[in-house]
Amino acid sequence: MVLKVCVAGATGWAGSELARSIAGTEDLALVAAVARKHAGQVLGDVLGEPRLTGHIYASAEEALAHPCDVFVEYTKPDGAKTNILTALEHGAHVVVGTSGLTESDLAQIDVLARKQHRGVLACGNFALTAVLLQKFAEAAARLIPQWEIIDYARDDKVDAPSGTARELAFRLSTVRRPEPSVPLANAVGPPETRGATVSGSQIHSIRLPGYVISAEIIFGMPDQRLTIRHDSGNSARPYADGALLAIRKVSTLVGVHRGLDSVLDL
Ligand SMILES: NC(=O)c1ccc[n+]([C@@H]2O[C@H](COP(=O)([O-])OP(=O)(O)OC[C@H]3O[C@@H](n4cnc5c(N)ncnc54)[C@H](OP(=O)(O)O)[C@@H]3O)[C@@H](O)[C@H]2O)c1
Repeated sequence: MVLKVCVAGATGWAGSELARSIAGTEDLALVAAVARKHAGQVLGDVLGEPRLTGHIYASAEEALAHPCDVFVEYTKPDGAKTNILTALEHGAHVVVGTSGLTESDLAQIDVLARKQHRGVLACGNFALTAVLLQKFAEAAARLIPQWEIIDYARDDKVDAPSGTARELAFRLSTVRRPEPSVPLANAVGPPETRGATVSGSQIHSIRLPGYVISAEIIFGMPDQRLTIRHDSGNSARPYADGALLAIRKVSTLVGVHRGLDSVLDL
C-alpha cells in the first residue's frame, strides 16, 4: 500500500530534503505541498526532481483538498499549530518537525488528535544521535538529580529554546525535577543569567553564526560530571531519514507522542 503524504514547508531546507527522499521511495507518494512563494507550481519543477508531481499550495487548507494519510509540518512556528489542527480535522495523521510549539499547543493538539483517533508524532529533532541523547539523558536523570541544558543554533534561528532542547526538558520532567542547590528564587544577580526554566530544567540558548543545531546536557554530582552532546552538520539528511520513519509509523499511534523513539525499538 502506498501512503499519501502532504509536506508543508516542502521548498524549505528540511522539507525539500524530505520531499526528495520521499521521491526515492516505493511506498510513499507526495500528493501535495504547502509553501507560499512557489504556490501554483509543481513541486518537482521547483526542486528539480521530476518524480515529485504534486502541486504546491499557499495554505494547508488548500493542499488538504487532496486526501492524504500523513501530513508533515515543516514550516515555521507561527503557522504550525493551525496547520496541524487543520490536518487532523481532515482526518490525516501528523508528523511534526517544526520547532517552537509549546506544551499548551501540544496539549490542545492532543485533544483533537484523540477525538479524531489520529496519531501526532512531534519530534524536536529527527536525527538519530539527538534521539540517543534523549534516551541516555533520561537514564542519567534517574540517578543524578542536578543538570542544565545548553542549546546551540545558528544566529538566524528565530525560536528559542530549540525544539530539541524543549523536548529534552519535557522528557526529563517525566523522570524527575532537577533539584538545584540554590533555588532560582534565592539566586543573587540578573535572573536571566540562570537561563529559562522549561519543564523544570534550566535551558541556556546560544545563537551564533557557525552553529547548526547542537544540544548539550551537563549532569553534575559532587566531584564528578557527565556531559552528553549531540552536534549536527550542515545537511538536512539526518532529519529526512528520521522523518521517513516517522511517516511510516505515525498511523500506529493515537494522540500526541514526543520523540522518534516513540516508534523505535530502543
Ligand atoms: N525536527 C527536526 O529534526 C528539524 C530539523 C530541521 C529543522 N526543523 C524545524 O523545521 C522548521 C523549518 O525549518 P527550515 O530550516 O526547513 O526552514 P526554511 O528553510 O525557512 O523552510 C520553511 C518552509 O516553510 C514554508 N513556510 C514558511 N512559513 C509558511 C507559512 N506561513 N505558510 C506556508 N508555508 C510556509 C517556506 O516556504 P515559503 O516561505 O515560500 O512560504 C518553506 O518551504 C523550523 O521550525 C526548524 O526549526 C526541525
